[in-house]
Amino acid sequence: MPLYYLTTPIFYVNDVPHIGHAYTAVNADALARWHRLIGDEVFFLTGTDEHGLKVARSAQEHNCTPQEWTDTTSARFSETWKRLNISNDDFIRTTEKRHHLAVKTFLERIRDRGYIYVGEYEGLYCVGCEAYYGEGELEAGSLCPIHKRPAEVLREENYFFKLSAFQEALLDFYTANPQVIRPQSKLNEALGFIRGGLEDFSISRNKKSVSWGVEIPWDRAHVVYVWTDALVNYLTALGYGQEDGRWESWWPAVHHLLGKDILRFHGVYWPAMCMAAGIDPPGHLQVHGWLLVGGEKMAKSRLNQIFPGDLADEFGVDGLRYHLLRDNPLGPDGDFTYEAMTQRYNSDLANNFGNLLSRVATVIEKGCGGVGPAPNPSSNLKGEVESHLGVVIEAWGRNSPSEGLEATWKLIQLANASLEATEPWKMQSGPQLDLVMGDALEILRIVAILASPAMPGACQVLWDAIGLEGSPGSAQIPQDLKWGGYCGGIQVTRRSPLFPRKK
Ligand code: MSP
Repeated sequence: MPLYYLTTPIFYVNDVPHIGHAYTAVNADALARWHRLIGDEVFFLTGTDEHGLKVARSAQEHNCTPQEWTDTTSARFSETWKRLNISNDDFIRTTEKRHHLAVKTFLERIRDRGYIYVGEYEGLYCVGCEAYYGEGELEAGSLCPIHKRPAEVLREENYFFKLSAFQEALLDFYTANPQVIRPQSKLNEALGFIRGGLEDFSISRNKKSVSWGVEIPWDRAHVVYVWTDALVNYLTALGYGQEDGRWESWWPAVHHLLGKDILRFHGVYWPAMCMAAGIDPPGHLQVHGWLLVGGEKMAKSRLNQIFPGDLADEFGVDGLRYHLLRDNPLGPDGDFTYEAMTQRYNSDLANNFGNLLSRVATVIEKGCGGVGPAPNPSSNLKGEVESHLGVVIEAWGRNSPSEGLEATWKLIQLANASLEATEPWKMQSGPQLDLVMGDALEILRIVAILASPAMPGACQVLWDAIGLEGSPGSAQIPQDLKWGGYCGGIQVTRRSPLFPRKK
């Protein structure tokens, strides 16, 4: 069984999750669910990034210890992910013992291989990014380009990582493996950073300035820089630093999903750190844009955050998941608007998906005694359905849930158009009606499987309503997509609308 290790970035716990975070988590979840459908053994990791100055300051503002603060806010992420039906196999917290152990093992390895030294550092630091900036990278007034807040001067003795030693090795790696960073424009951006010259960077903080972190194993006066600590989480969750050695079978065939703001850390620092530790660099980085609100990135400081729970209350968890996936392709930035979300919900979910189920169940109740008939083995819909399946599978294979869903909705349109053409609600009970309804049920069954990575809850309801056992998420692609899988002779239940129309 092919292995598929998928990660989200670990989320900072200085704040509660907004829909930008949910965008990353839902996309990752949909990909994980898709890979389970195609028979991969999936290990899907998410979690929280709990150290560093930003988190320590948030705790201070809330009059609690960093540990108390991270316990509270990390739980907000895990609860929200549960609510959004995120099917992660593990949830890592960087304050866990297993992680401290992995970071220590990793750093000792790098030090023993000669890539860590002591030096003096003075630089402009943005606490929001937890990163140093060069003068030229800041906006007028020393403002961070992302957070629009002034960077602070930090000066101290630190341990440094010899990033400069990896410039050639990184260029060679990406020249030989250009498919590692997708989309191509992000590979070019990473190559631009590397070609621009790599400077060594500090991987520790003196406890006098930041004490909330993993201690440097050989010097207890320092803690590990939060990004260095955070990146190692991808290995921790595989048991790195522990006896079992399981990590070696999953690494480096990892798939990191990440936002464009953290490309440099994942596409430059992280592979170099891996090389320094004698580990292969990660095999795949899928980079996505931001979900903007009114053209701006969501941030607590801008008071423009939208919370996933509020939208899930209104549109349902699957309504929210569908909108995030369908309307915001992985790659470019997307702009969230309530109007676009409502329009998409009404057209795709209420009028097409939900309506198809309602009309099929109504006709079957009236004309087929509530029992779903089998599809026509030589239906003329069969060929059309099969031609769309290839498009769906290919799109998901390219990590494009948006296009995969677009092609899946073509099947729904096909079924609705066929019902409109044959008007089964005007037909007498009998074999003719059975064939028409069997075909519609078969398309619903196939749609339930294909849409389940995006809308696991609604697809399960659909699956149950058409009388099938088990779950669409346990189906196997491609074998379960073969025309004729709906066995017929089973109870179809009419239920309240899956997606009631919004005004
Ligand atoms: N803690 C670091 C990641 C360390 S991974 C070893 C971090 N955390 S974050 O909470 O700020 O961001 C986590 C992810 O959420 C990133 O991929 C980021 O791009 C994504 N998003 C945060 N806001 C976002 C939007 N408004 N839109 C889309 N994704 C956004 O960075």
